[in-house]
Amino acid sequence: MVYTRKDQRDLTRAERRKFVDAVLELKRSGRYDDFVRTHVRHYSSDGDDGLRAAHMAPSFLPWHRQYLLDFERALRALDPTVTVPYWDWTRDRTAAASLWGEDFMGGNGRRGDRQVMTGPFAHVRGDWTVTVGVTENRFLSRDFGHPADPVELPTRKELAWAMDDPVYDSEPWNSTSASGFRNKLEGWTPGKGSARLRNHNRVHRWVGGLMLGGASVNDPVFWLHHSFVDLLWSRWQTRNPGARYQPATPPPRGSSQYGRVVARHEPMPPFGVTPADVADHSRVYRYA
Ligand code: CU
Ligand code: CU
Repeated sequence: MVYTRKDQRDLTRAERRKFVDAVLELKRSGRYDDFVRTHVRHYSSDGDDGLRAAHMAPSFLPWHRQYLLDFERALRALDPTVTVPYWDWTRDRTAAASLWGEDFMGGNGRRGDRQVMTGPFAHVRGDWTVTVGVTENRFLSRDFGHPADPVELPTRKELAWAMDDPVYDSEPWNSTSASGFRNKLEGWTPGKGSARLRNHNRVHRWVGGLMLGGASVNDPVFWLHHSFVDLLWSRWQTRNPGARYQPATPPPRGSSQYGRVVARHEPMPPFGVTPADVADHSRVYRYA
């Protein structure tokens, strides 16, 4: 049966609770932290050697699609009515959004140590101790708007800049690709600080705290953010029926990207599925 991922703002109180309960149950079992570990392990960038499967690469979108599917499957094994909702950050743009409610994601971090003190994932509640990818603090932290170098959530116009590009990705297939839907949505541009970050990256920066970097999965809003990123890819696919994942074939020997990016029919570690395998999600889930 095809299930539906909903806009988080449309969830009923009961649906919010079920999602939170399933996430907390996964955390208790230790499996949530396995997901965090997987993300940390695949957090490599242009400057690193070897294959980039998850970020700064064409497979950014299919990698996270499969990652979300695995997470959703784990949640649905606990409660078959749960799906991963999405956060439309072009609509819910402030700390006052119901997303950050006491019964859902909780709010901003406090001044000073940026510790989140409200909601089910506040460390003080006792259910959410961060164990992976941190060296000191074990609490969830956020820093809305990154006051040290202020940033707004992406606007519709900024998103349109990505959505209106009819080509999936372009050489050199990394964070410097000047054209292509993937890098514009992932959000790397030349420049410095917050100004460099667009769309997907900008949202990580806006939430701040643990949402920055490889350990971002420690903040459960990660899943709602990436559910929306996946929705955007899905919409783009519908709008561009002829446009396929690029590159179709691996970069040749001698190219700077040889052995560093996943081609359309190559398996993505650690999942083993290819970008082509996950191109069509319509038989598994749909977006409301
Ligand atoms: Cu990621
Ligand atoms: Cu991300």
